[in-house]
Order: sequence, then structure tokens, then C-alpha cells
Amino acid sequence: MHSLDAFAAEKLAQLDAGHLRRRLTPSARTSPARIQRGDRTLVSFSCNDYLGLAQDPRVKAAAIAAIELYGVGAGASRLITGDHPLLGQLEARLAAFKGTEAALVFGSGYLANIGVIPALVGSGDLVLMDELAHACMVSGARLSGARVLTFAHNDMDQLAERLAAARNHGARALILTERVFSMDGDQAPLPALLAIAQAHDAWTLVDDAHGLGVVTPDAKAPLELGTLSKALGGMGGYLCASTPVIELLKSRARSFVYATGLPPASAAAALAALDILDAEPERSRRPVALARRFTTALGLGPAMSAIVPIHVGEATRALALSAALAEKGLLVVAIRPPTVPKGTARLRVAFSAAHDEGDVDALVHAMRDVGAIGAPSLDVAE
Ligand SMILES: Cc1ncc(COP(=O)(O)O)c(C=O)c1O
Repeated sequence: MHSLDAFAAEKLAQLDAGHLRRRLTPSARTSPARIQRGDRTLVSFSCNDYLGLAQDPRVKAAAIAAIELYGVGAGASRLITGDHPLLGQLEARLAAFKGTEAALVFGSGYLANIGVIPALVGSGDLVLMDELAHACMVSGARLSGARVLTFAHNDMDQLAERLAAARNHGARALILTERVFSMDGDQAPLPALLAIAQAHDAWTLVDDAHGLGVVTPDAKAPLELGTLSKALGGMGGYLCASTPVIELLKSRARSFVYATGLPPASAAAALAALDILDAEPERSRRPVALARRFTTALGLGPAMSAIVPIHVGEATRALALSAALAEKGLLVVAIRPPTVPKGTARLRVAFSAAHDEGDVDALVHAMRDVGAIGAPSLDVAE
């Protein structure tokens, strides 16, 4: 066997042994809260389309109209010929929405993180990140060449201690956190975090991927990063910040400079989605209200966002419970290491404005039936 294939085969065997191999499952979203897998239609609690806008006729019409006029792709990077006027309109809109001077749109939230972080800090500087911050912030931090330290999840005392102890004289320090944590559904204590940052002249980047359009912000960070792919239903990423920061990134964020611009249709879709957010505030309240209906019914702590994790321990148990729920027509994908720390595999339940109360109640009953809440009742091989 070629050494390359032998390497891949050995790695796959290790993943199989740890029940950590990932496999694709073809899935077609037929309506906002339903998903087609093979010949089965499941109620999906595993999409991040929190407001049901990916299928909204107004959002689709905006994207289709832009495709008819401008085609499917940007054709080049923004700095060459890919700077379609719709992108500038979207940036002005995002900046106004977030209350910042300016904004910059990227190809995705992942690309935004790995572009922004290394453009702001580098060798000799310090990055301090919440231990549960998303993988793309880890990637951005590593790419920067700065010293990267974590602090215990939401532990502001540890953040302050490490910031004081670890920073080189005169070096820059960047704090990374999420407004709503993607796998836990809880929120960062932003007012306290920003006060610590200010006291140490450290900069703060908040990833709002799972907050925008769903939770009301309790504070604004100087670097508000996010994605167009969750509550806004489409594709793309953004950073909202001051004018000098955004101008610097246009020259220095490598994932912006050297990547094809976002397609005009994605900008048109995001603009239409933002119109809906403004016009229908009740839509934004629905995911958390449904999540709370679920947590109340199961006696769990009140949901803080659209995301509710059900911790089940080992990966095998999460997979078995997910399969048992699918048997009942409900899709709740098992989340396993390395996406989450070892021993904390979970069912990650994501609620959408597109669910109805009946969907939530069906999930409550099914969670009890399969033994996902309380004592395990499944025969699970560990
Ligand atoms: C917190 C967080 N940031 C960034 C991303 C990446 O965004 P995108 O999917 O737009 O690349 C995700 C997930 O996709 C996320 O959960």
C-alpha cells in the first residue's frame, strides 16, 4: 500500500476504535423544520436555521433575483473585481445593526475568524480564549503565531489573573469568546469580560454566530464577528468594528484578500433576512421561548439561547440515543469529541422559530422514552 494510503487507513482505524469516525449522511431540507434522509422525513432539531429563514420565500426571491441579474459567483476576490455593490450595502446594514462604524464581509464565519485574528496579533503577543471557544477561533489563534492560553469556561477571575501574569511588556493581548456557546447554549458574561479587557487594555473579539437574531446582546465588543449562515439562513461571515480596524483588515486579513468574494446572491439573501429581523421581532423571540418550553418540561435549567445540550457522557451513548430518537422521527445529532471535550458527548438540541409547540412536546416525550434524561434505559455497549 502507498504510504499515504497506509497513513490514512491507520488513522481511520484509530477513529473507528474510539467511535469517533465521522460519516456523511445525505440530507435534504424540505421545509424549515423538516429534513429528508433516505426515504424518511424527520423533524430536525439539528439545524442552525434558528429563524427558519433559509426557506423563507422573501429570502429565496432576493437570492434568485440576484442570480438572474449577476450570476452565481463573484468571479474574483473583493480587491480585484469581486466587490459587488450588494456587498457594500450588506456591510453598511450589518454595521448599523450592530452599532459599529463599519463592517467587512467574508466567505464564511470560519474564514472571518482565521482572517481577523492573525491580522491583529502575532509573535510575542497573547491570545486568551475561553476553553470552549469554537474550533475556528482556535485555528485563527494558532495561525497568528501569538502565545495562546485558555481560561476556564466563563471564569472571569482566571481570565484577569492570566491576563496580568502572561502578557509580555508592551505586547498586544486579544481575548476570544462567544456570545452564545455553540455546543453549550450558555452565554459569556460580556459586561464583566469587557471591564477586565478595558482594565488591561486588551482587545475583545466576540463570535456572535449563535446569538445574532436570537438573543438580546447585553454588551458590545470592539470586534463583533459572526456568520450569515445561522439565524440569517444563508452563507457568509462578517466582522463589525471601527473604521480603522475594518480598513486594516481589507489589506491584512489573508482569508479576505486571497479568497473569492461572497456571491452577490448571498449578500442579497442576507439583506432580505435582515429586513425580516427588523420587521418581525416576534420571530426572534420564538427559538428561546420554544427552548424554554423544552427545558421547563424536562426540569432542566432555563434555556439561555436556542441551543440546549443534553449531556450523556460517552460517544457511544450519544450515538445510540440519537439513533433511538431518529426511530421516532426526530433528528438530534450526537456531538462527540473532539468537537466537545472527552467524556462530554451530548445531544445538542437546536430550536427554530419554524418549530411548532407540537414538535417540542414530541421531543420532550421522546427524550423521556429513550432515557436521554435521568437514568439511562438503553442497552448501550461502551
Ligand atoms: C461559534 C462559531 N463561529 C463560527 C462558525 C463558522 O461559521 P460558518 O459556518 O459561517 O463558517 C461556527 C459554526 O459554523 C460557529 O459555531
